Amino acid sequence: MEIQRLNPRLASLQTYPFERLGALLAGVTPNPALRPINLSIGEPKHPTPALVKDALAAALGGLSVYPRTAGLPELRSAIAAWARRRYALDALDPETQVLPVNGSREALFSFTQALIDPGKAAKVVCPNPFYQIYEGATLLAGATPVFLNDGMGFDAIDWRGVQLAFACSPGNPTGRVMNLQAWRELFELSDRHGFVIASDECYSEIYCDEAKPPLGALDAAWRLGRRDFRRLVVFSSLSKRSNAPGMRSGFVAGDAALLKTYLLYRTYHGSAMSHSVQHASIAAWKDEAHVRENRRLYAAKYSAVLPLFDGSSLKAEKPQGGFYLWIRTPVDDAAFARDLHRQYNVLVLPGSFLAREAHGTNPGRNHVRIALVAPLDECVEALGRIMQFAKAL
Ligand SMILES: Cc1ncc(COP(=O)(O)O)c(C=O)c1O
Repeated sequence: MEIQRLNPRLASLQTYPFERLGALLAGVTPNPALRPINLSIGEPKHPTPALVKDALAAALGGLSVYPRTAGLPELRSAIAAWARRRYALDALDPETQVLPVNGSREALFSFTQALIDPGKAAKVVCPNPFYQIYEGATLLAGATPVFLNDGMGFDAIDWRGVQLAFACSPGNPTGRVMNLQAWRELFELSDRHGFVIASDECYSEIYCDEAKPPLGALDAAWRLGRRDFRRLVVFSSLSKRSNAPGMRSGFVAGDAALLKTYLLYRTYHGSAMSHSVQHASIAAWKDEAHVRENRRLYAAKYSAVLPLFDGSSLKAEKPQGGFYLWIRTPVDDAAFARDLHRQYNVLVLPGSFLAREAHGTNPGRNHVRIALVAPLDECVEALGRIMQFAKAL
């Protein structure tokens, strides 16, 4: 293969965190006396609800047609109705303000390609630590990522030349949720500098307190009187909400003008959702009982594992959303993950692999991300082992 003929931007992509984890653990033999427990990957493991599987099976006839990129009107209506209920919106037009996508990952990526004008020294703001797709999408679109470290105010960076800003709320890996004031500030910056906001909300339905669902960007915009959602697009997904990561189903919603252009891009990109998956998605968006049950399972895990931190040198807090624990390590995070694997056969993800050096620091350093995706007993056992491990540090 003539490598030099490939898109040279591919060379700027960074190694994916799980590849780095694989390299870190190469040659390390985990303790064979303990069963392996993997809490490194954020892949939901609770069962996919029967109502979703049944709807998919009942709609297999959909495989015989080419779907339209805009999706079935019934799906767009189900999504719009869900978003209106979830975010207390008086209106969200299924025709113009909603589009189905094949999971939020491809949408975050393709939206960036559709939006960026690389001729203008484009900058894209990414949270740090972050989901690496933001950075890859930015680089392949010919833009430069600008990192906003966890805990920094928006005034820490120069917003001139920014074309797109990613927000991730609830955040992966931190679990932090942006409040109304933060959204107000980001919207004001967007008005001043003209950039678009891509709000990644794929963890929006995973939270512990039923009375306090995380604030979403559509909700924030609506409350702040931005009822046309100008320059805002939200990315949502069934992967975590409905334990259906293999279905590749999500949606984008927001600014109608942006979605019109994005739909044009998607038609060429060839990313229409199969009718079978669309029907299963309609069933999923219309049902909340399975989502509440899913939350109950995660909440039970937090209730079981957080007390294990009492008296430990490690500290953990219940996140505002998502299914991670983001904990500070008393030693280098990569060494922590490697030695934990060797001694206790538990896999966690080093925080520095999820972040970039920016503003003089890697904000993921000396942190690890623990995904509470395994069954409750495995999570408890893993955290018990982590506490044992930490005692000797
Ligand atoms: C922050 C974040 N955004 C987006 C995604 C993509 O999810 P999906 O493509 O399954 O919707 C993930 C998956 O782990 C994620 O952690």
